[in-house]
Amino acid sequence: MFEPLFLTDMVLALLAMIAALALGRHASGDPRRRVRWAWITAALVAARLAVACLLLTGGLVLAESRLEVQLPLALVPMAWAVWRPERTSAHVGAAGVLLSAWWLFVPFGPQDVVPVVAGSVAALMVLAGLSVLLGRWRRSGSRAARLPWLATAFLLVPAVGLVLSGQANTAATGHDHHAMAGGRSVDQLTGPRDRTPDVRLTLTAARGQVRLDSGRTVDALTFNGSSPGPELRVRKGQLVEVTLVNTDVDAGVTVHWHGVDVPNAEDGVPGVTQNAVRPGERHVYRFTPNRAGTFWYHTHRDAAESVRRGLFGALIVEDGPAFDGFERTVFTHEWPGAAERAVAFDRADQPSRQAVDAGRNVLLRLVNSTKDPQRIHVGGTRFTVAAIDGNPVPGATPVEDGTDFLLAAGGRYDVAFTMPKAPVTVAAGQAALALSPDGTAAPADLADGPLFDPLGYGSGASSAEGADRSFDLRLDDGFGFGQGGFTYVSSLINGRLYPAVPTLVVAEGDRVRVRVASRSIVDHPFHLHGHRVRVLSRNGVPASGDWWTDTLNVAPGQVYEIAFTADNPGVWMDHCHNFDHGANGMVMHLAYEGVSSPYSADHGPE
Ligand code: C2O
Ligand code: CU
Repeated sequence: MFEPLFLTDMVLALLAMIAALALGRHASGDPRRRVRWAWITAALVAARLAVACLLLTGGLVLAESRLEVQLPLALVPMAWAVWRPERTSAHVGAAGVLLSAWWLFVPFGPQDVVPVVAGSVAALMVLAGLSVLLGRWRRSGSRAARLPWLATAFLLVPAVGLVLSGQANTAATGHDHHAMAGGRSVDQLTGPRDRTPDVRLTLTAARGQVRLDSGRTVDALTFNGSSPGPELRVRKGQLVEVTLVNTDVDAGVTVHWHGVDVPNAEDGVPGVTQNAVRPGERHVYRFTPNRAGTFWYHTHRDAAESVRRGLFGALIVEDGPAFDGFERTVFTHEWPGAAERAVAFDRADQPSRQAVDAGRNVLLRLVNSTKDPQRIHVGGTRFTVAAIDGNPVPGATPVEDGTDFLLAAGGRYDVAFTMPKAPVTVAAGQAALALSPDGTAAPADLADGPLFDPLGYGSGASSAEGADRSFDLRLDDGFGFGQGGFTYVSSLINGRLYPAVPTLVVAEGDRVRVRVASRSIVDHPFHLHGHRVRVLSRNGVPASGDWWTDTLNVAPGQVYEIAFTADNPGVWMDHCHNFDHGANGMVMHLAYEGVSSPYSADHGPE
């Protein structure tokens, strides 16, 4: 919904750059042309200001980068150029507009505000000086007609220099977990190695075919011959041992236990906690799940491609007596070859039906293995959001029939209700499942309903405690230095791409607070490994309930404050669960002081 405004601003910025070049060209020439171009340029900058004010309606964070640095850099010199249109003011005005546009396309984080402002102002002052000198040379009759152009070009040098030094420096030093001196290695932070496991499982990754309900076959990657892989059911407190075997997946495989706070060495991140398991190799994971709930596992090597092709499955941790009723795990998945954004419920790429006796308890565990948030419709019953990301919601009350909810990429919702006599439909895009007592009802056509908001759901929010460390993260679209060179992506964290994104460093026992603000035009599901996080507020509104998550969808203009306790030492991934964004560098690490990783990323960021 903010996309048109962002695009308008980009177009205006480009037009302003062109006008600024014309203004610079006529700075020393015909005064009437100079005045005309000064007014045109100023009008374009004013239009950008108007667009920025419209962006404010979506929240301060969407407009802040424009209002705090970019536009003042253009507005102040342009006001001068219009007020006193002579050579120097025209040069400085034109340069201010170019710099302003530069910072639109190359966003920066809060850590860079001071150097960027100081560097830009210094550049403008140098240029003003050059322009004055140029005037003297001209009066003295020297052949310096080309100097205005040289001067404009010269201006870009400090700007480019700033970005290069900022980004390239952190590119060299940001990926610093190997350099941390002494202390413990990730390899020492394993699950119990000396006890006999309570459960022993094997996951064998291999190439294979998956047949969807429509009859379409997918050239897939499977665990134990199927995708989704086997649903693993273990009990809270059990020591689980899983042996991963890679038969023939060339990219390599690992298993990440999404949402389970396993010891660091069991986390399944190639290049950080282990090496990817090559064809013919195996790797043993051991951990003891300490919370019951809906989790999932997936490969973390080449995740964008390999998860989509099928290397994922459900991990259900149980506690207490078995659920009495109808229970089913449903992945929303986007199979390769499907139409853009067409999701299936597991392998059901067309509407499906299910018989459930009226009066039975129903528990649906919905897991989103796609890269986008999925809007899930439920029609035919009131229902309760019993758990989010494997965390039971205290004080959960039923929501109205027809309510929709948004499942973040990587996120899980446990939906509970009592089966009525009439059919119930659960749908996401074209995927639809109808539950009915005789199993014959077809899914109903569901229109968008009101959207469930976890922020105001449930009860038990404790008043926010203090924090030992705070971090401020801005998510942006723009140019950055990544694997593919200097490219335009929607994956910037504080103006950086992996590996230049600085690592968040904490000490064991710290209470950590993170502010995540999105100035991007797309959703970013923020996922921290090894820790569940508590949502304190969104856009300044505190959470009413005890909302814990491991995958938080941060939509354009949203600002979340989240908190967690640093109670699981290691070097952890902290990334966008839109795997494409991850592959483009929207990845950072959370590292504990004194812990280092002997592995190195031989591949991409994921
Ligand atoms: Cu579900 Cu790092 O991922
Ligand atoms: Cu993202």
